[in-house]
Amino acid sequence: MPKITVLPHPELAPDGAVFDAPENMSICDALQHNKIDIEHACGQVGACSTCHVVVLQGFDSLNELGDNEEDMLDQAWGLQPHSRLSCQARLAQEDLTVELPKYTINHAKE
Ligand code: FES
Repeated sequence: MPKITVLPHPELAPDGAVFDAPENMSICDALQHNKIDIEHACGQVGACSTCHVVVLQGFDSLNELGDNEEDMLDQAWGLQPHSRLSCQARLAQEDLTVELPKYTINHAKE
């Protein structure tokens, strides 16, 4: 089972977090199952970009980025080379280190 390390985020995970999650689970589900309430405004269908995360370690182990995901990511706040939509990125066997961006597109608009 891969181990997920989440870097501290002021609201969602003030102390950061480390937990195991089953292979094939989406990063978004894994975060929520571990009480990290990441936004998922479209219901995890890859249509909003609010679930954006940056995968600092283990990026290459994830399933491939689809065209639709790439398009949505273009709208994400704080896009990085290793950005993913957490609802579309599925865990493999490798451990991950994940950063939760400071804002989502929803916050950025406010
Ligand atoms: Fe909307 Fe992931 S929850 S794109």
